[in-house]
Amino acid sequence: MIDGKKVLFSGMQATGTLTLGNYLGALKNWVALSNEYECFYSVVDLHSITVRQDAGELRRRARNLLTLYIAAGLDPEKNCLYYQSHVPAHAELAWILNCFTYMGELNRMTQFKDKASKHANNINAGLYTYPVLMAADILLYQADAVPVGKDQLQHLEITRDIAQRFNSVYGDVFTVPEPFIGKTGAKIMSLQEPEKKMSKSDDNPNASIFLMDDPDTIIRKFKKAVTDMEASVRYDAVKQPGICNLMDIYGSCTGKSTAEIEREFDGKGYGEFKLAVGEAVVSVLKPVQERFDELIRDKSYIDTMIRKNAEKAGYYANKTLRKAQKKVGFPERVRE
Ligand code: TRP
Repeated sequence: MIDGKKVLFSGMQATGTLTLGNYLGALKNWVALSNEYECFYSVVDLHSITVRQDAGELRRRARNLLTLYIAAGLDPEKNCLYYQSHVPAHAELAWILNCFTYMGELNRMTQFKDKASKHANNINAGLYTYPVLMAADILLYQADAVPVGKDQLQHLEITRDIAQRFNSVYGDVFTVPEPFIGKTGAKIMSLQEPEKKMSKSDDNPNASIFLMDDPDTIIRKFKKAVTDMEASVRYDAVKQPGICNLMDIYGSCTGKSTAEIEREFDGKGYGEFKLAVGEAVVSVLKPVQERFDELIRDKSYIDTMIRKNAEKAGYYANKTLRKAQKKVGFPERVRE
């Protein structure tokens, strides 16, 4: 608890260009949660170097992502928006937690297996202990809730196991976090292969809407989106996954329910529907893009926010870190 509010932690990697899926599935929900919780939203750059990155590119993307957090509506005076690498406590707690995590547990992580097969020439120890660093992220802030996608649930489960193990030896040091599965946690699928998640790294440029796509590009990609044979706007996941995805996107952008959408497009063709979806997406993304363009030029404002928030994050993180260090037997620091 901070000031009577429950604590929420989440993070995103600054690799690749963010998609509409990242926005509707995560960022938009983060904004919705930011009144109710005391929120820490990190740009997790320590995690990013578990696969090879171009240094300049990573730095540029990390700054863009942090700026985008603000552009999307997260107030940096209320929410703690910061780079993970600016708070050394993450790496320090991760080391301690490494000593409370079993190789058997890490061997079961499906994301490690996936990534190891994709990056077979660079299966480094960081990739292996990635979930432990993630546990440190969450536990440092005594987070009660962690909004994550399904693909991260296993990492949250191991976080809970590590916290409980540590607590059972040393008493109540860490809050054991709960996953937060949003009500509207829309999972956005590829526009070209609707059985696949919309991905930053899809080879087909028409498969994903990027947050910075201009209106014409957005409309064009929706026009090309794969539909089905039924020729009606009906929510049938088996017969028409493509249409369902478009309905989810439209619903998420307009707040309309599936039934309302079916009624709205009753007797209308796919062409008209796809155009409406494209326009709805444009009207959601345009203000975010405009705000982003303004903010990215305001170097001193962003720099100030980065510095202030790193200090704030450091303050809370160090409180927990010192507790854990003391528990495991590290000598106390003598103050002048
Ligand atoms: N691993 C998460 C992802 O790739 C990012 C992440 C890092 C994270 N640390 C976190 C998410 C802590 C939630 C909480 O999506």
